[in-house]
Amino acid sequence: MRAVVLVGGFGTRLRPLTNDLPKQMLPVVRVPMIERVVDVLGSYGVTEAVLSLGYRPDAFIGAYPDGVCAGVLLHYAVEPEPLDTAGAVRFAALSAGIDDTFIVVNGDVLTDLNVAELWDFHKSHGAEGTIALTPVEDPSRYGVVPIDDEGRVIEFVEKPAPGTAPTNWINAGTYVLEPSVLDRIASDRKVSIERETFPAMVADESLFALHSDAYWIDAGTPDTYLRAQLDLIDGVRANEVAVLPSDEIDSSAIVENSVLGADVVIGNGTIVRNSILMDGVTIGPGVRIHDSIIASGARVGPDSHISNLTVVGADVEVPAQSELTGARLPESD
Ligand code: GDD
Ligand code: MG
Repeated sequence: MRAVVLVGGFGTRLRPLTNDLPKQMLPVVRVPMIERVVDVLGSYGVTEAVLSLGYRPDAFIGAYPDGVCAGVLLHYAVEPEPLDTAGAVRFAALSAGIDDTFIVVNGDVLTDLNVAELWDFHKSHGAEGTIALTPVEDPSRYGVVPIDDEGRVIEFVEKPAPGTAPTNWINAGTYVLEPSVLDRIASDRKVSIERETFPAMVADESLFALHSDAYWIDAGTPDTYLRAQLDLIDGVRANEVAVLPSDEIDSSAIVENSVLGADVVIGNGTIVRNSILMDGVTIGPGVRIHDSIIASGARVGPDSHISNLTVVGADVEVPAQSELTGARLPESD
C-alpha cells in the first residue's frame, strides 16, 4: 500500500513556530509530527509514503537522510510551486508512479482512525474515492460532509460560514482514492481537492465516506497543537513521559500537565501548567506559564506571566517581568 502525505503547506496558523520548521517537523511530545503520522500508516501496512513537499522540503530530507521514517520507505516529491491540495496529490502520485488504489492523508492530523476499515469500505462500495469522517463541535473550520444511508457523499462544503453546516461530521483528512481521480486534476494550475475535485466527484456520485469515532485532532493551530500533546501525556490518547531526566526543575517549582523537551531549566517558585516547553528552554524564577508554547532554546526572564495560548518562537529572549497573554513572539505579519 502506498500513501501520499500532504506536508507542503506554510503552516501560517502556527507562526512563529513554523518560521524555521515546516508544521509537520514540529515535535509532538518530542517526536516530529510526520513520524507519528507515518508510524500509524505503517501499522496499517503502508510500505511507502510519498511526501508531498513544498515549504522547506530540506527539513524533511535532512531529518531522514536514508529515506526511511518510522520503518516506512519515503519518496520525496518537491513541488516547484504550491499546487494546493489536489495539485499536490497529483504531482506526488505521478512522481512516485502510483497507478493503483492509494491513500492520501493530511500530514497535520493525528488520529487512531482505522485505515484498513476505510480501505475495505472503499473496495466493497466500488467507490472512486472514500473519505474518513470525524465529528467535531464547530465544523466551520473544516470540510463538512453529509452522506446518505449507503455512505454516498451528498455534498462537500469546505469551511462553511459558522452556523450553516448541514452536519457536524467533517472531512478527517484521510482518503482512499482510485488513480482515475488523478485524471480529474488539471496539471497547469492550483487545484483544491476540497473545493474542486471532491465536489465534481459528488456530482458523478463516485465519492463515499465513512464515519469514525476514533481519536482525531488536526494539530495545525496553537490550540490544537498544544492539546494534541497534552492528550498524549494525560491518558486521553496515551500516557507518554512528560518530563525527562535531563530537565532541571527547581524543587520549589510546580510543573503540571505539561510536556518538557530535553535540557529544560526551571527556576525557583516558577509554575508551569498545561504548556509545552521544547528542548533547551530556560525559565527564570517566579514565572507563571499557563496554556502556552515555548519553542526550543527560548529563555524567559524572571517574574514573567505567560498565558492564554502565547507562542514564543525558537531562541527568543523574553525580558524579565513580561506580561504576555495570547501573544506571538516574534510577531509575524
Ligand atoms: N504539498 C502541498 N502543497 N501541501 C499542501 C498545500 C500545497 O499547496 N496546501 C496545503 N498542504 C498540506 C498542509 O501542509 C496540510 O498537511 C494539508 O495539506 C492540509 O492543509 P491545511 O492547511 O492544514 O488545511 P485545513 O486544516 O485548513 O483543512 C483541511 O484539513 C481538514 C481536516 O484536518 C481540509 O482538508 C478540510 O476539508 C479538513 O476537514
Ligand atoms: Mg490542517
